Amino acid sequence: MQTIETLNARYGIAHHVTFKESVGLMVAELDNVHATASICLQGAHLMTWTPKGQQPVIWLSPAAKLAPGKSIRGGVPVCWPWFGPHATQSSFPGHGFARTVLWEVIGTKALKDGATWLAFRLIPTEATRAQWPHSCELVLQAAIGATLDMDLGTLNTGSTPITIGDALHTYFAVSDIAQVAIHGLDGTPYIDKVNGSAQKQQAGPVNIYQEVDRIYYNTDRDCLIDDPAWKRRIRIAKLGSRSTVVWNPWVDKADKMGDLGDDGYLNMLCVESCNAADDVVIVPPGKSHRLSVRYSVLA
Ligand code: BG6
Repeated sequence: MQTIETLNARYGIAHHVTFKESVGLMVAELDNVHATASICLQGAHLMTWTPKGQQPVIWLSPAAKLAPGKSIRGGVPVCWPWFGPHATQSSFPGHGFARTVLWEVIGTKALKDGATWLAFRLIPTEATRAQWPHSCELVLQAAIGATLDMDLGTLNTGSTPITIGDALHTYFAVSDIAQVAIHGLDGTPYIDKVNGSAQKQQAGPVNIYQEVDRIYYNTDRDCLIDDPAWKRRIRIAKLGSRSTVVWNPWVDKADKMGDLGDDGYLNMLCVESCNAADDVVIVPPGKSHRLSVRYSVLA
């Protein structure tokens, strides 16, 4: 069993990784020459990443409800083994259960370039088996430095193929949503979830001035969030992902959600690297699927 003491003894690294507990959650806190970050063991949920000398790149809601079994608003929720509502069981949690269960730390390392690497494995429970009765192993690796690399690996350890939807549901911090543009989706078809799931095609960059909830499909292209007020662009480069979701709840939905904070929707934006809708992945027995994303900040 993992405790703060055993985690620090086995995986703590001086000047890199310290495990702490707060409100019943265990968190790995990172501080290296490049950045600070924190990852909650529940959900292997990266909550913060701030390269030194910069504004936070990842947005964590000031009103996030941090509690065992609750999903955390902001950071990088890991959606798995389905994306969005479950296909047939409406009582199963949206975006799967991986984000609300405890993961096991399986490795930490100080890398030569000053970055820090951590790896987590999902521990199946009776409750997760009731919703996902398949044999597989899920590992999340993160390398945190001047860039943030995240890799979600699903290994099928059973004897039949498994079908998964997954996502790194990343919340980005932005100066002012009205001034931000997302590049990289021009010409890409999408499902417009705020418009009866109408099929549309993106023309030019994405600008957000109302609720946006779109699944761009059949796209493996990089995206770039252009944030002129903070004089930066965030590059999202992905592998093993065929869909990109762009989401901002805007004012009414944010009010109903209750954990976005006052006007939080003006300072956040989700650009999610996924395999969603028809882009689900079939993993044959003995094979694995990897969803890998590199986030970097360009001046
Ligand atoms: C996005 C979905 O990925 O996540 C939205 O496209 C959803 O429809 C949003 O509202 C937030 O989901 P949740 O489960 O974290 O509230």
